[in-house]
Amino acid sequence: MRPFRRLHRMRSSGPLRALCNEASVRPGDLIYPIFVDEGLSRPVEVATMPGVLRHTEQSLLQELEAARASGIASVILFGVSQRKDDCGSDAMRRDGLLARMIGSAKTRFPDLNIIADICICEYTTHGHCGSLTRDRIDNDATIANLGRQAVVAAAAGADVLAPSGMMDGMVSAIRSALDEAGFHEKPILSYSSKFSSSFYGPFREASGITLGKGNREAYQADPSAPRQALLESLIDEAEGADALMVKPGMAYLDILYRLKERTLLPVGAYQVSGEYAMIKFAAQHGALDERAAVLESLLAFKRAGADFILTYFAKDAARYLG
Ligand code: PBG
Repeated sequence: MRPFRRLHRMRSSGPLRALCNEASVRPGDLIYPIFVDEGLSRPVEVATMPGVLRHTEQSLLQELEAARASGIASVILFGVSQRKDDCGSDAMRRDGLLARMIGSAKTRFPDLNIIADICICEYTTHGHCGSLTRDRIDNDATIANLGRQAVVAAAAGADVLAPSGMMDGMVSAIRSALDEAGFHEKPILSYSSKFSSSFYGPFREASGITLGKGNREAYQADPSAPRQALLESLIDEAEGADALMVKPGMAYLDILYRLKERTLLPVGAYQVSGEYAMIKFAAQHGALDERAAVLESLLAFKRAGADFILTYFAKDAARYLG
């Protein structure tokens, strides 16, 4: 038998393969996350995320310079607070860590797209994404505070506000607060389909979060309830979100694909800390070629419909692609 159909023909050279490409990753698709710890006097590597540092407020600026030199245009900043309380009030202060890191980043690099993570878990003693009343999340008190936090971040120079706490009504609360404060032009990128996931493990170390009690199952989406997670995104769209995001990434490509078919908003994927750790540690032990594995994983997000990708590999990937 000689095969009549031979798919090898169109794969036989680089130019032919290039003609068949349906998905590609560009540095402009990437968002680079950076941790800033106000308690450090020099940067410290995160043990569970080799290659990722917790920066000081000064070394943040060098990291931004390096990111920009690699071709990164968008960054998201996470604060590691040493001034935590019950409701995360430091994040609502005009001289708090969130405001300071955004302010200095924007002043020094006005051309970078600075995204502010809007959540209180990095600023609360209990580590939850909402303030607690008798050990339960007080959703409505929290979203009022998220509105304040978003206004502080916008006033400090944030270009995009990215609520990540999966509180009900967070997008409309933030939209109203921003509009009232005159920031009607600042977009909201919602972590709209965010699952309660074991893949966030290393992030907790990186961001200094210790969950005092409980877990996030009562507010983050259940991995076994995909339609609820899609509904979360559709509600955020209706509440005025300008872009949507699915998180984690690699284990939730079905959600990304289904969301892309249901919305006309830009959609992103977050390749989270545990995904970074899996590839990094496997590569360190010789099980994977890091560069190839990173680029292949990013391609998977694009294929599933991601317009943008938030990844700790962003700086490396931008360099590979550049
Ligand atoms: C919390 C937040 C988390 C991450 C980003 N924002 C952790 C969580 O929800 O527990 C995780 C990101 C990662 O793992 O890389 N607002």
